[in-house]
Amino acid sequence: MAPADRPDWFGRLSRVGGELAARSLDALVISNPTNLRYLGGYTGSAGLLVCTPSRATLIVDGRYSLATRHAIAAGRLGPMDVAVVEGRYDLTLGSVLASQEVGSAGFEAEHLTVALFDAWKLAAPGVTWQATYRIVESHRAVKDAVEIATLRRAATLLSDVARLLPGIVAAGRTEREVARAIEQSIDTVGFSAPAFPTIVASGPNSALPHARPTDRRLQAGDLVVLDFGGVLDGYCGDLTRMAAIEQVSAEALALFAAVREAHAAAIAAVRPGVLASDVDAAARLALSARGVGSAFLHGTGHGLGLDLHEAPRLGRPDADRVEPLIPGMVCTIEPGVYVEGTGGVRLEDDVLVTAGGCEVLTDAPRDLLVV
Ligand code: GLY
Ligand code: MN
Ligand code: MN
Repeated sequence: MAPADRPDWFGRLSRVGGELAARSLDALVISNPTNLRYLGGYTGSAGLLVCTPSRATLIVDGRYSLATRHAIAAGRLGPMDVAVVEGRYDLTLGSVLASQEVGSAGFEAEHLTVALFDAWKLAAPGVTWQATYRIVESHRAVKDAVEIATLRRAATLLSDVARLLPGIVAAGRTEREVARAIEQSIDTVGFSAPAFPTIVASGPNSALPHARPTDRRLQAGDLVVLDFGGVLDGYCGDLTRMAAIEQVSAEALALFAAVREAHAAAIAAVRPGVLASDVDAAARLALSARGVGSAFLHGTGHGLGLDLHEAPRLGRPDADRVEPLIPGMVCTIEPGVYVEGTGGVRLEDDVLVTAGGCEVLTDAPRDLLVV
């Protein structure tokens, strides 16, 4: 049994290994770095993991072999055998698969280049390969107690940063200055890094959903989108709040009111069994009722975890991704509208799917911050 504050590597590896027989696979070769971290705690810049129903073999090169062996022995990494690359990863992979008599292996189709796949086929001529999609990611989507505790702390700290915004956002400051001050606060409250480059988008720039901060100075009449995140023990928090510089137009206030309604409608729709795409539909319906549905230019949210964007995807229905919500999922709710000439509005919170619905983890005030 894993210590309470340490990930349950054994359980994670066993659950993935236990899925292989039903897919007629002897092994799954994992190349997505985030999946390596999730399954075994490995964070080196290169590595592969061969998972079978009975064992896991981490393939690393000389830069990481000693540190990896020590970390496994100390329980800081999962229970994995280690194979060390002598020349090339593909050749070591071929010999690991041959020595374990693997006849059929899955690869992560979304995390392998065509060139590497060609090399793997040559290095493992006896293996029949099968493309797999999101096997580990579907496990990652439902967080365990240790992960939820970390995400909860990240959301609390990020809310603390949001509460500092009244002292950060001011007319005359540039977007870049505001973004720098937010990132300074992200550091000060205890995050190891921003989860992504902070977005501060003012006036006309607010109509660009993923604008980068510029040297534009905030001025009266601006809507300002403030979207920022932090990484805590590897896990991401993600939050968006809105400011207005002095008085904004009636159209801008109407956009804010519409997004606030859509945000509330989406949160009200979150509960186990509901499709992730239905939460998106709830936000879209609320915006359409206010006449701004066509200005909603992205999905309603995304799963949060070791990656900033992970399963589930709260977007338009997609026959290839039917994702019912499950207790333990943590995702963002972030409807937004973007209107050239008026500006943009987005509100974003992080929520945990619970047995009875959802718990909003980020608790900073959502009102338009007028400065
Ligand atoms: N800024 C990235 C996101 O909110 O998803
Ligand atoms: Mn987000
Ligand atoms: Mn965000």
